[in-house]
Amino acid sequence: MSDQLQKEEEKLSRIETEINDIDGHITNIKTGNLSEESDELAKLLTENTKLKFRLEILKKAIANERKNCKADTIPSEMISIRNYLNELFGSAIKAAYPELSDPPIVITESTKVSFGDYQCNSAMPVSQLLKAKNIKASPRDVAVKILENLPNSFLINKTEIAGPGFINIFITNEYVVSAISTILKNGVFPPTTKKMRVVIDFSSPNVAKQMHVGHLRSTIIGESISRLLEFVGHDVLRLNHIGDWGTQFGMLIAHLEEMFPNYVKESPPIADLQAFYKESKIRFDNDEEFKKRAYDRVVKLQSGESNSRKAWQLICDVSRLEYQKVYKALDVTLEERGESFYQSRMENLVKELNERGFLEEDEGRKIMWGIKGEDYGGIPLTIIKSDGGFTYDTSDMATIRNRIEEEKGEWLVYVTDAGQSTHFKSLFSCARKVGILDSSKVRVDHVPFGVVLGEDGKKFKTRSGETVKLLDLLDEGLKRSLEKLKEKERDKFMTAEELRKAQENIAYGCIKYADLSKNRQNEYVFSFDKMLDDKGNTAVYLLYAYTRIKSIARNCGEEFIKNFDTIKKETKLELTHEKELKLAKVLIQFPDIIEKILKDLHVHYMCEFLYQISTTFTEFYDVCYCIEKNRQGEIVKINKSRILLCEATATVMAKCFDILGLKTLDKI
Ligand code: ARG
Repeated sequence: MSDQLQKEEEKLSRIETEINDIDGHITNIKTGNLSEESDELAKLLTENTKLKFRLEILKKAIANERKNCKADTIPSEMISIRNYLNELFGSAIKAAYPELSDPPIVITESTKVSFGDYQCNSAMPVSQLLKAKNIKASPRDVAVKILENLPNSFLINKTEIAGPGFINIFITNEYVVSAISTILKNGVFPPTTKKMRVVIDFSSPNVAKQMHVGHLRSTIIGESISRLLEFVGHDVLRLNHIGDWGTQFGMLIAHLEEMFPNYVKESPPIADLQAFYKESKIRFDNDEEFKKRAYDRVVKLQSGESNSRKAWQLICDVSRLEYQKVYKALDVTLEERGESFYQSRMENLVKELNERGFLEEDEGRKIMWGIKGEDYGGIPLTIIKSDGGFTYDTSDMATIRNRIEEEKGEWLVYVTDAGQSTHFKSLFSCARKVGILDSSKVRVDHVPFGVVLGEDGKKFKTRSGETVKLLDLLDEGLKRSLEKLKEKERDKFMTAEELRKAQENIAYGCIKYADLSKNRQNEYVFSFDKMLDDKGNTAVYLLYAYTRIKSIARNCGEEFIKNFDTIKKETKLELTHEKELKLAKVLIQFPDIIEKILKDLHVHYMCEFLYQISTTFTEFYDVCYCIEKNRQGEIVKINKSRILLCEATATVMAKCFDILGLKTLDKI
């Protein structure tokens, strides 16, 4: 309840008591219990009429006030404003038009301050739906009726009908203040969501093949989605579905046996696995005897023969060392569960698919079609190759079953390049067909991303046309970020340790942010120059902005910092300046952004949000003094409420960085 309303209600009850007293007095006089003179009685009667008149006015004012101030109280946690408005307007529309079974609820953010903070644009489509039912009501009439049925709310200060029937919604300052205070008190918490068991598959490079920029994208996007899902409280299993099984291992093992016959006792020096792979491939293609041995080794490996296993293990270990370095640098955690893990599961599944008649003969292969009539791309899965071996498709069928039936996954996420979209469509359709996947119980998402291009617009390659090694790429990033820091002479006032931290956080932050800030479905041009730019929507700009905002409170002096916790508790937040309110209203959209990303797993919304926070912050900081100093540079006034707003801004930004997997810096 607003302070104003409370005061008025108190006044009302005081007047009511007064009237009662006077009424009692009058009755006493009339009944002759008291022997006052008759002019005394007249005086009291006029007094009473006046009071009754004032009472009526107050009652009306309070009724009005109540309409604008919801009887329900402001929740103690941050809410998703859009979801809340959706519910509120949804119930109003349903109450106004019970004859419509599923009326459209359209809530958007307003594009102009004069249009309010949000808009409900349902009146137009509702009017159309009514027309189809032969009910005539103009969009404006509909808007009026929606508002008549709108429950009062702590969130809505006022509403206005504009143009043909747009409803402009202005939210209450009380809510804005309360939500910012919540951030200051508790930090940033996610909107309440039903906890789910999520299995996310990302990064997933292939042993002995180069871990390329596509895997880098999958790693960066997958890590960020995992962080988000964990933040909202889901139970997340992050899996690295490494390509560690299949025919190429026959070649590799056969080659290893010959090149390093002592491999069982001693680790062979195959640092460059890719070169090793190339050599074995040449032999495989040209040497019949070698080829036969390679096939034999695959069979041996898959049946668990110990020397082949050992050789395979060694090869996987070498590969693992390489990608562990990438994960360490980028602070990525993953549980390795490669294709090999599913061998026995593939055997069982294939047997079952065969028995249940799902497999079809196709030129020596055994294939499986998705559900007839389902739009899955019309390409079947290859379950058994003509040589009897299993494929990527087979392993994914076993994998999806494992993730649903054994891991109890309620939501499966696969982060790969967009080129695999048809594979996943077929996979999901086949899994539904055999009853592994029930789409009403398990959510599945293939999260595709576009290819990485070089600055020349062609496929990302080194100058000599080779695929770029990820570790080289990360090193290049480090080199460039150090150059940038030196250019700005940061090395002059940072310790070696601080400089190293800044160098790493900026380099890796930039590589991640450049990837995450674009719509992942588009192609992505990899450019160090662009990502290390300190203007625009880049990690450098945002990390600098954050550090600067954090330093504002620090500039208030030691005494202030020492007492900051008490100041946070005791200072009443006042958001009166237009720019203060604007900034605060951006910050409290945080839950909306989370909800939006959860719908389609597009992380770039969070980057747009971060950028919006930082530009709105600049607008605020340009016109609203936080600390005032005299000519001597001494602090003469600290606007505590504004310092708190800076603090809330930094808190929200820090949470966004954290979800994106970027590390902030105290000093840059
Ligand atoms: N190893 C695959 C590749 O490099 C990606 C694996 C993705 N996960 C899956 N379950 N299919 O393209």
